[in-house]
Amino acid sequence: MESYLLDWANLLLRWLHVIVGIAWIGASFYFVWLDNHLLKPSDQALQAKGVDGELWAVHGGGFYNPQKYMVAPSHLPQHLHWFYWESYWTWMSGFALFVVLYLFNASSFLIDKRVLDWTPAAAIAAALGFLAAGWLVYDQICRRFGRDRQTGAIGNDGLVLGLIAVFVALATWAACQLFAGRAAFLIIGAMLATMMSANVFFWIIPGQKEVIADMRAGRTPSPLHGQRGKQRSVHNTYFGLPVLVAMLSNHYGMLYSARWNWAVLITLMLAGVLIRSYFVKRHKGVNAWGLVLAALILLGALIVALAPTVSADRQGAGKEVPATPNIAQVQAIVAQRCQMCHNEALSQKNIQLHTPALIEQNAQALYQQAVVLKLMPLNNATQITEQERAVLGRWFEAKNAKP
Ligand code: HEC
Repeated sequence: MESYLLDWANLLLRWLHVIVGIAWIGASFYFVWLDNHLLKPSDQALQAKGVDGELWAVHGGGFYNPQKYMVAPSHLPQHLHWFYWESYWTWMSGFALFVVLYLFNASSFLIDKRVLDWTPAAAIAAALGFLAAGWLVYDQICRRFGRDRQTGAIGNDGLVLGLIAVFVALATWAACQLFAGRAAFLIIGAMLATMMSANVFFWIIPGQKEVIADMRAGRTPSPLHGQRGKQRSVHNTYFGLPVLVAMLSNHYGMLYSARWNWAVLITLMLAGVLIRSYFVKRHKGVNAWGLVLAALILLGALIVALAPTVSADRQGAGKEVPATPNIAQVQAIVAQRCQMCHNEALSQKNIQLHTPALIEQNAQALYQQAVVLKLMPLNNATQITEQERAVLGRWFEAKNAKP
């Protein structure tokens, strides 16, 4: 019952997370696009009002004419829309999902004894540590190196972006030495997403609030708030696609179970940055196809590098594997390798495998999980052999070949 309710919590939180995530990243994509498409107004009246850029667009049956003021309009409007709940809800729902999925079941999901044999408490503390330390280190990089020594202006993005890239790559490597592959990928995605939300929470929104407070009090707002907000927004622009691919790639065993899984994730995230850079440049009228090409080369290299070899597929599927295994032979394997987690009392994902009838009933899912994807037994906790997988595979294939 508990795992059944956890499955529901999982679904509902995931749904919420995707909805608010779309709202956040969608708005963020829109504003980057908008910023890059603004044109200097030719109208004298607009210029006199302080409008620095404007755009005309048609959408959903109406015409829109957004205008950007630099630094701010002379009078604050009564109704000012803020964008931050999208970000906060994405983080909160994501964190809740992480707790339900990974922290509740730390021994199954965070820990892979083949990677590191440690206690659930230690693994949970380390996972949370990644989220907190990620932000602290990233923030220090921005504070220490993101400021021009001469002018004091915030920016200096070449060095800062380079340091962030090195840090993220190191963290990815470290996570893959500590956690089950699937958890490691998610933790890196969550670490980057935490930096993004924390940028909004600790810098971007407070900076905007100070600018407004200054204006209300008749003071000239410091340009530092705007510069810092811009710096962190630029980072968020490039974090977005890597975060998404880190969170999605953890559904693919071929990626996170790979021998060099940390290099796989780094490559995927790098491809994400290149693709995003292409779009940012394209908004400004530059079609930098080299960026797309570089991303495609990286992805192509991954596809080639991770391709299953025929010999590995056939490994152990030699003479010892009967041509058409019977259900008794299958049941013997399942009893030893699967039943521990799939029985009457404990039925992970509602799958029970403790009788021949149940094995028959779940044959398709069993075949997919244990033979094709090799995701089961979870982290190969029960040490199934390639030969046993081959027996399960032949049994299912023979069963389905029958007219
Ligand atoms: C150590 C515990 C454990 C063992 C052993 C184990 N499983 Fe699982 N199984 C799980 C867990 C936990 C889940 C839920 C995974 C998830 O939510 O991604 C699961 C899920 C499944 C699913 C459903 C997958 C889905 O996403 O719908 C199938 C089918 C399955 N297991 C089959 C097997 C088979 C076949 C074996 C033996 C070869 C096996 N399991 C051994 C823990 C285990």
